[in-house]
Amino acid sequence: MKVPFIDLSSSEKFLSSKIKKAIENVIRRKDFILGKEVKEFEENFSKYIGCRYTVGVCSGSSGLFLALKALDISSNDYVITTPFTFTATAEVILHCNAKVIFVDIDKDTYNISVEETENALKKFGNKVKAVIPVHLYGQPCNMQDLLKVCKEYNIKIVEDAAQAHGAIFRFKNGSEIIEKKVGSIGEIGCFSFYPTKNLGCYGDGGAVTTNDEKLYQKLLRLRNHGRVEHYLYQEIGYNSRLDNLQAAILLVKLNYLDKLNKERQKIAQIYTQELKNVGDIVTPYVAENVTHVYHLYVIKTSYRDKLKEFLKLHNIGCAVQYDIPLHLQPAYKGLYETVSSLKNSEITSRKVLSLPIYPGLKETQIEYVINTIKKFFKNLKK
Ligand SMILES: Cc1ncc(COP(=O)(O)O)c(C=O)c1O
Repeated sequence: MKVPFIDLSSSEKFLSSKIKKAIENVIRRKDFILGKEVKEFEENFSKYIGCRYTVGVCSGSSGLFLALKALDISSNDYVITTPFTFTATAEVILHCNAKVIFVDIDKDTYNISVEETENALKKFGNKVKAVIPVHLYGQPCNMQDLLKVCKEYNIKIVEDAAQAHGAIFRFKNGSEIIEKKVGSIGEIGCFSFYPTKNLGCYGDGGAVTTNDEKLYQKLLRLRNHGRVEHYLYQEIGYNSRLDNLQAAILLVKLNYLDKLNKERQKIAQIYTQELKNVGDIVTPYVAENVTHVYHLYVIKTSYRDKLKEFLKLHNIGCAVQYDIPLHLQPAYKGLYETVSSLKNSEITSRKVLSLPIYPGLKETQIEYVINTIKKFFKNLKK
C-alpha cells in the first residue's frame, strides 16, 4: 500500500465540477484583477471568521508583511514571535527593518509561551510594538492570557493563522464562554491559501482580517499600490492583490471548510486513540479550551529519524515541521534577540514527525500507517 504525505486530488474530487464552472465564469467575464469574486470571497470569509473585514492578498507571507506595515512597524521597533514556525512569520519583521525577538514555545502545545512573551516585554519595554503568535499545526495559541499581557503593555497582536482556518478559541468570562475563531481575536489575522492548507487555492493566495475600519482601509491601499483612485496614490504600496481566479476557487471551497476540517479531526482522533501507548510516542496535546483543525498531525518520539526512514521504506510519506528552528538557521544569524534559552523549540524540533492527514485519506490507509508504526516499535524491543 502507498500513503502519500499529501494528496490534494483525493480531497477535491467531489468539488471539481463546481470549481471548473467557477473558473470558467471568471474567464468568460475576464475580470481577472480585483473582480467580483474577490469582493464576494472577502465578505464570505469575514462572515465565516466572525470579523468585520477581510482583504484578499497574494499569499500568507504578503499578508503578514502588509499587517506589520499597516501597524507602521519600522526600523526602531521590536516584534516578538516564536522560532518554531515557518520562516515567513519572522522574515516579514526583518523586511520592515524591525528587530526580531524570539521567545520559546510551550513544551506541550508548541505554541508561543505567554510567560516568555511577558518576560520579553519586561526586558524590551515600549520598544516592542507587536507580537505574532502562530496557531501552529492548527491549534490556537493561549489567546486569553496573551490578550491580557498585550493589553497591559499596549502591544498589537498579529495572528499568524496560516495553518488554522476555522480553529476556535473559547474565552472564559466568569461562567460565560465566548467562542472566537482565530483571525478575529488580535488586531489583524493572517491566512495562507497555499494549496495544501486546510483552505487552499490553486496557486498562491492569502487574506488579512481585522475588526478595525482604519486598518482595513490601509490594508486595502497597501495591497494595491497605495491607490485611492486608479491613478491617485495616497501612500507607497505594493502589488499584493488576491487573484480573481483564486478567489473563485476559494469561494467554492469555503463552503466545505467545516466538513473537511471535521474529516481531519476524525482522522486525528483515530491516530491519537491508536498511538497513545505505542513506544515513546507523544500524541498531540490539545488544550481544553480550543478546537484544533489539524492542518498537521504531529507526534513526538526520540526515534524520529529512524521511524521516518522505516515509514518511507513502507511507502508512507511523512515530514518534519520544523527540524531547524529559525534561531539556528544561517539566515537569522545575528538578526534576533532573545530573553532566555530557546530549549523547548530545540528539543521539540529534534522529535516531531508529521503523519499523513488530509480529507479523503482512506480508513485502510490510516490503519496501515498505525500498524506500520506499531511494527517499528515492536522491532525496537527485539
Ligand atoms: C505558519 C505560516 N506562516 C506563514 C506562511 C506563509 O504563507 P504563504 O506560503 O501563503 O506565503 C505559512 C505557509 O506555509 C505558514 O505555515
